[in-house]
Amino acid sequence: MDYQELALKAVEAKLKAHPPYSNFHVGAAVLTEDEKIYSGGNIENSSYSLTICAERVAVFKAVSEGERNFKAIAIASDDKGFCSPCGACRQVLHDLCGDNLDVILVNQKKELKILKLSQLLPLPFGDENLK
Ligand code: THU
Repeated sequence: MDYQELALKAVEAKLKAHPPYSNFHVGAAVLTEDEKIYSGGNIENSSYSLTICAERVAVFKAVSEGERNFKAIAIASDDKGFCSPCGACRQVLHDLCGDNLDVILVNQKKELKILKLSQLLPLPFGDENLK
């Protein structure tokens, strides 16, 4: 699976986002090591802090299906530029997908910016600290 294709899955997932309060749609698609894709959009709640970002919807769907090994996540949004994952999602991605994850940001022209999670979350806290 090439990353352009994964990016399109994130764009598709954005169409099913549910952000009635911010009206800011985000879609994410996560790619497993064995080439399966799980996607999701942000889901907002009237009690605003219960909102869940697209990245966490996609990754939690995958983990709840038993997936543990991930290659990449693509993120598309209504942002004019590139929408980068929030701090909470970076922490979740670190814990569940690892520092080597490719993070693919997709802008509205479907251009890609590819980073490693370790660039987005340097000096992370993780399970290694709990041993
Ligand atoms: N949001 C995401 O889904 N992912 C991000 O990377 C940034 C923010 C959502 C949360 C909320 O529903 C809306 O965008 C505005 O913050």
